Amino acid sequence: MRVYLDNAATTPLDKEVFEAMAPFMLEHFGNPSSIHSHGREVRAAIEKARRTVATLLNTSPAEVFFTSGGTEADNAAIVCSCRSLGIKHAITTKLEHHAVLHTMEMLEKQGDFQLSYLRHDERGNLDLEHLEELLANQPRTIVSIMHANNEIGTINDIEKIGEICRKYDAVFHSDTVQTMGHYVHDVQKIGANFLVGSAHKFHGPKGVGFLYCDASTKIQPLIQGGAQERNMRGGTENVYGIIGLAKALEIAYRDMAEHQKHMQGLKDRMIYKLREQMEDVSFNGMSEFGNKSLYTVLNVSLPASDINEMLLFSLDIAKISASGGSACSSGANAGSHVLRALGVDPSRGSVRFSFSKYNTVEEIDYVAETVAKMYKKELA
Ligand SMILES: Cc1ncc(COP(=O)(O)O)c(C=O)c1O
Repeated sequence: MRVYLDNAATTPLDKEVFEAMAPFMLEHFGNPSSIHSHGREVRAAIEKARRTVATLLNTSPAEVFFTSGGTEADNAAIVCSCRSLGIKHAITTKLEHHAVLHTMEMLEKQGDFQLSYLRHDERGNLDLEHLEELLANQPRTIVSIMHANNEIGTINDIEKIGEICRKYDAVFHSDTVQTMGHYVHDVQKIGANFLVGSAHKFHGPKGVGFLYCDASTKIQPLIQGGAQERNMRGGTENVYGIIGLAKALEIAYRDMAEHQKHMQGLKDRMIYKLREQMEDVSFNGMSEFGNKSLYTVLNVSLPASDINEMLLFSLDIAKISASGGSACSSGANAGSHVLRALGVDPSRGSVRFSFSKYNTVEEIDYVAETVAKMYKKELA
């Protein structure tokens, strides 16, 4: 058995998605900017895809811009709003993905830009009173807070954060990469200026994503070039990527309830099986607290042991693909900035298992048993 439990890194392409993409690789090859019929048919397909995404998010197509993925969408939201709106203060958290953190650090290094980090507890729950303190008496600020953490799964209340941002007239960007396609996003309710999606996290193709930018937030493009994406992103569109993204999101919404139930069941079973077979196992983040944590992600904290250095390698040998990284930052493994920020004990092992609709109960049982055996042998 070969088990893939690294779905927060990327998910396998859905066959239905591939079938929707294939004609745009082989038959409909025109450049969507061309005025002839080959171009026009492709342009029409892109606009249909945009309408699909917009409808699912309860917004208008004019607010959806296709990008090369989540990283570009995060960069565009942060860099362009600071540049175009003259923003010089940002609030974020130490738990963000590097697509956000490194972008913020770059702006800070360039100077004339102040960066504030929001307090959180040891499970990654944010202190929203601190957010209000940081926002009070500040010039216009951008707040960048992810919807859910890709490493530990902790979910933030982005509706509440959106409300606070509106109260202080702050621009709100939420990195929704890990929740897009797994939860319903109603942009009217969230009230963010920017949200992002990345197709390969919900069984779409790699290298394509989108930025939702609310119509009242007027920004200039990150990538200069042609007039594509209504002058908001130069470059010939990733046509089959865009078609695949829309199809994947459509399927994700269509089957969401069923898949959510399936994956939550797998996650609960993994927690139960590990606890049943191991004495000293716990879970980083809010994993044990139902809807406070992604149903797709389980970050397991394992006993201190020599095998922790080689944990992912040992799992790989047992044909289990997972990821993670300890709080330790020594050696070749740079470790996890998220676990370090949470103050997780660096001597413990940490592994992230992340689930998809394709995983099975048998796989979960095999993985839990393998992990338990590895530690039993080592700690005996
Ligand atoms: C929370 C989060 N943000 C951004 C990204 C980057 O997305 P992409 O791979 O599409 O650039 C990822 C991917 O791992 C992610 O998990």
